[in-house]
Amino acid sequence: MLILGVESSCDDTAAAVVEDGHRVLSSVVSSQDDIHSKFGGIVPELASRRHIESIIPVVDSALLKASVTIGDIDGIAVTQGPGLVGSILIGLSFAKAVSFVRSIPFTGVNHIESHPLAAFLHETQEHEPPDFPFVSLIVSGGHTTLLLMESHTGYRILGQTLDDAAGEAFDKVAKLLGLGYPGGVAIDRLARTGDPDSARFTRPYIAKGSLDFSFSGIKTAVLTHVRGLKGAIDEKTLSDLSASFQEAVVDVLVDKALWALEATGSANLVVAGGVACNSRLRARLREAAQQEAIRLFIPPPKFCSDNGAMVAALGYHQIKKGATGTLDMNALPTWEGF
Ligand code: KG4
Ligand code: ZN
Repeated sequence: MLILGVESSCDDTAAAVVEDGHRVLSSVVSSQDDIHSKFGGIVPELASRRHIESIIPVVDSALLKASVTIGDIDGIAVTQGPGLVGSILIGLSFAKAVSFVRSIPFTGVNHIESHPLAAFLHETQEHEPPDFPFVSLIVSGGHTTLLLMESHTGYRILGQTLDDAAGEAFDKVAKLLGLGYPGGVAIDRLARTGDPDSARFTRPYIAKGSLDFSFSGIKTAVLTHVRGLKGAIDEKTLSDLSASFQEAVVDVLVDKALWALEATGSANLVVAGGVACNSRLRARLREAAQQEAIRLFIPPPKFCSDNGAMVAALGYHQIKKGATGTLDMNALPTWEGF
């Protein structure tokens, strides 16, 4: 079954063609970083307008790269929420229109729930997928969530952020260090040559065993630290600060993922979301997985950050179950529980 996945919940317009929920024939992402970077964050109205311009070219490109036509598509999966309402509506309206005209089913997908499905994706060689139930740590610009995935389409929320998301903390710290937006990649790069022990930022665990997160305090601690530094910040200090901040965030993410595995008795961990591209997080998780005999799945960066393939993967299972949408389906900017 060929599914066209469409994602437009935030600032990327993405489309992908995926066979049977795992084989990726194409995945195209059009980033909007160029328009939002000068504002230091996402401007929702500009995001919606760019989605309108991009959606058809992005889908056309995904079909072309997959060497298929719209007539070959069996169903459409589209992000229904959570996210920016104006942005979601572009993808959702597009999916409804194509579904109606082509007489094929469509299904509305939870963006957060779709991130872990990236662990099932492959382009060439198929790999052993994770076993259910598995723990998924989803770390992105909008969410930091621990889910217990009980099936492809069933999950339990184990914990989530009480304030800033991990990616949001990266972006805010990058902004205050003058590194531009989005800043996660810049911090990752600078941290490689920095000393993670140069500044000791408190690790926000909330309570021993708690699976919730809180990152706004670290951001404020970095701000206070920077204010205490007199004069211009040189390159070495920037690297040291980046490494110290990153280490604090990574410590918490790794420890809480391990606590979640312990609490659920699962030995399978899937990590996804834009922050899962972070090289230090990936290295620390690999180390922990080796020590603790964990089956760790971190998709390649293109399937960690927002993409249409993960949406198609979840949508495939929903359509197979008969969970298809109707034309009166609305966007869900806040999805119950998230
Ligand atoms: O999942 P994503 O592409 O979009 C959503 O927010 O849903 O995640 C984007 C976030 C941004 O906050 C970005 O700064 C962060 O992921 N990010 C990183 C890295 N690459 C992207 N954070 C840390 N290190 C990275 N290498
Ligand atoms: Zn996302």
